[in-house]
Amino acid sequence: MITAPTRAPFITFEGGEGAGKTTQTRLLADRLKAAGIACVLTREPGGAPFAEEIRALLLRPDLPPRGAMAEALLFLAARADHVTETILPALDTGQWVISDRFSDSTFAYQGAAGGVPHATLANLHRLVLGDFRPDLTLILDLPTEIGLARASTRKSSSERDHFENRALAYHDALRRGFLAIAADDPARCAVIDATGSPQEVAARIWALVEARLSSKMA
Ligand code: TYD
Repeated sequence: MITAPTRAPFITFEGGEGAGKTTQTRLLADRLKAAGIACVLTREPGGAPFAEEIRALLLRPDLPPRGAMAEALLFLAARADHVTETILPALDTGQWVISDRFSDSTFAYQGAAGGVPHATLANLHRLVLGDFRPDLTLILDLPTEIGLARASTRKSSSERDHFENRALAYHDALRRGFLAIAADDPARCAVIDATGSPQEVAARIWALVEARLSSKMA
């Protein structure tokens, strides 16, 4: 069980394109390390050697269209490998783990935006991961247009991956999906306003982490 007293906290970052997750996961890892807390920074899809191979396949922009269920099963396969090979071994040796995306991305992208029923994804996750879930999930929230504008200044359309090239309506559904996940599970999730400078967002995140996990920092 994730709540076993010897196991360190597992924190996930979620959100749509351009929300700044990658920057914020790094800033939080740096801050925890500065506070003397050992932590592992990882990401999905990927985070372990075999899972990174599945990532390369999933993000290739040149492959033919496929159904959201086929995608969900591949994300789950990568997640099973990531949890077994990277996340659990780190948590079991007392290191905090911070992951740039995890299960909620499947519920938002393949579920809310992609059309796979929530109950189906919940059943698959139960089969694959049992009761394992993050202790804290930070959902970086940004108006869709701002997120897409930020993401598009980073790359040209030919450099964007399969998911980034989808239409505005898809990204709107995604945002609503993440907000619904947070509303359904407020004990685990917190919505972070991702507008403002990286430092401003990092300060909001640190305040939240201290408020929720201070007992684990001692
Ligand atoms: P990545 O380059 O890591 O994007 P980002 O910086 O936005 O996290 O690519 C991951 C893409 O995969 C991203 O568009 C979201 C998508 N994704 C899913 O559709 N389902 C999932 O379960 C996960 C983990 C990611």
